[in-house]
Formats: sequence, C-alpha cells, structure tokens
Amino acid sequence: MSDAYSRDYGHLPVLAAEAVSALAPQDGETYVDATMGGGGYTRMLLERADCRVIAFDRDPAAMQAAQIWAEKYGSRLTIVQRPFAEMVEALEEVSISQVHGVVMDLGVSSLQLDEGMRGFSFRHDGPLNMRMDQQSTLDARELLNRAEEKDLADIFYIYGEEKKSRIAAREIVRVRQSEPIETTGQLSTLLEKVLGPQGREKIHPATRIFQAIRIFINDELGQLAKGLLAAERILAAAGRLAAVTFHSLEDRLVKRFLTQRSAVQQAGSRHMPDVVTSDVMPTFSLAARRPVLPSAEEIAANPRARSAKLRAAVRTQTPAQEVGPEFLRSIGLPQPVFSPALRNWS
Ligand SMILES: C[S@@+](CC[C@H](N)C(=O)[O-])C[C@H]1O[C@@H](n2cnc3c(N)ncnc32)[C@H](O)[C@@H]1O
Repeated sequence: MSDAYSRDYGHLPVLAAEAVSALAPQDGETYVDATMGGGGYTRMLLERADCRVIAFDRDPAAMQAAQIWAEKYGSRLTIVQRPFAEMVEALEEVSISQVHGVVMDLGVSSLQLDEGMRGFSFRHDGPLNMRMDQQSTLDARELLNRAEEKDLADIFYIYGEEKKSRIAAREIVRVRQSEPIETTGQLSTLLEKVLGPQGREKIHPATRIFQAIRIFINDELGQLAKGLLAAERILAAAGRLAAVTFHSLEDRLVKRFLTQRSAVQQAGSRHMPDVVTSDVMPTFSLAARRPVLPSAEEIAANPRARSAKLRAAVRTQTPAQEVGPEFLRSIGLPQPVFSPALRNWS
C-alpha cells in the first residue's frame, strides 16, 4: 500500500489491494466503504475506476482527517458519520437503493490505537475511553468502575476469550473499592500483576481484556452481524462483498454468515416453524472457500496485518432474507445474559 494513502492519517491499510480487487471496481458503479478510517480503501476504489463511493465511519476523527484528502473526489465521494449497521437507512437518505460492492475493514485504525487520549491501547497511557464514536453514554471507565463482577467476567470471557476472566474481574472489583480505575496504564499494570505471562503466545497479559472491553463498548460483533445483513439487502445481483477481520470472533462470524448464505436453506412456515415448507436459494456465492491472508512482506512492513483475513463473496439474485435470533446465534453472535443493571445502562 503506497504511503500516499497513509501519510496524512497514520494508518497503513491492511490487505487493501486484495480487498479492493475483490470488489473489482468498474466505471459508473457505486460502492460502500463501511469503515473509511484514513480512507485507504476508499481512495484506492476511487483511483481504480470512475466510480462513486459512500464511505462510513462512526468516528468524528475520521471525518476530520478526511478533510485533507476528500475534496479532490468531488461528488464521487459521499462521507457519512454513522455506524455501518445503519447503511441501508443512510443510503436511502441519499436516494441509493442498490450498490455494486461493500467492503469492511473491521476493528480500529492505528490513529485510534496510537492516540493515548482515546484509551484503546495498553501501550499508550490515557483515560479509559474506547468509544469509537466518542459520544456513547457508556465508556470503558464507567464499565470497569460500575459493572458487577459477574458481568465483567462474562465480558472478558465472551469477547476476549480470556481464560482467567474471573480472576481479572475479581481483582478489578477489589482494586476499585479503594481507588477508581481511571487510566489504561492503571488497568494494564493491574492485569499484568494478576494474569502474569500469557503462555506460549507471548502476547501482553492485557491484550485479551482490552479487546473484550473495546468489542463490548462498541457492540462490534452486533454491528458486524447487522452490517453483513445490511450488505445482503443493499447489494445488487452480482455485487461484491469483501470483509477483512482481525480476530477469531470476527472471522468466525463472517465465515459462518457467508457459509450459511451460500448454501441452500430450508425455510419453515411462519405458523409451523418446525415444518420445512420450501428451499431458500443462496443469497451469496463464495469467491473462495479459504480466506486471503497477508503476504510475509506485508506482515514485515505492518505487524498489525499478521492476524488479518479477507473473505469475499458475490451476491446472487435471491432476495435478502429476514433472520431471527436463532440465525444470529448460529453464525456466532454471542447472546450473553447480563444483569439488569448493565442491560439498562448500556
Ligand atoms: C481498520 S480501520 C479502517 C481503515 C481503512 N480501511 C483505511 O484504509 O484507512 C476501521 C475503521 O472503521 C471504523 N468503524 C469500526 N466499526 C464501525 C462501525 N460499526 N460503523 C462505522 N465505522 C466503524 C473505525 O472507527 C475505524 O476508523
């Protein structure tokens, strides 16, 4: 990925050429970049063809950074500060009912991670914040200082796959009784002490718990499931979907969604759900069974790429399908039962 795309924002896009190629941009077509960030993917799409891009990001910092580069593309680029789960509604507002490609590059950007004040990373001290949109009512500080021990343990286990989730939650509750946990540095030191070295993987002991808090605060998996379903609704027949993920929870969700949507499904009657009444044809066809991974050169140049996986699929003509909680569970969207206090509060 050329420096020109990253210089002004400090984010080196991962698998950009591969993701953009999966969308196969054509003149006159319209694409959604669901996660604009520094605009690396958006700009590559706009440079590859005389196309239009609707770029989403829920972070006001991404909007601000875009002022430096967006003007050049004039009316070919529309930037929307909104969560991508609301893609269908947002596109309706600009009179777009169908697009030819949707790309998602999930998680956080380097700009968000490296800015201590955003509170995303244990590597940079700052206030515990972690809200991508910078405005939701619940931030990491409130969560850690107010949530019940069991809720914290569940969050760490479900969204961080942290085996010592209960130990970490217990220690957080113990420490906050004498002083509030305010900063990423405080949390990271506490976790280092109580969790110790993380086995053979050699990751920092705080890694999984920071990931879990970030995913929970930003409802990242809920957004991803809704975003994939929105893409199914908004993509024209033969439209392309490409998603780049950075950890196993995300990748499992994308993989299962595409596997299920690319197979013939059996539909039950609304009145007798257990009775199969018809076959539903696939809404997607898989571009490849296996994900595309970054090259050794890309990983050497950008270590953040090491866990990335790209999955792509092509939309068929079958109309988008309504889903219920059962489908969401089957693709790996966690359905935790938190205490009423946390439910009402988030
Ligand atoms: C990995 S970065 C994308 C980088 C981008 N592809 C580039 O080339 O610079 C992910 C971006 O997506 C945004 N984001 C994550 N989840 C989002 C969501 N549900 N809705 C809108 N934006 C989201 C984040 O704020 C962040 O800026």
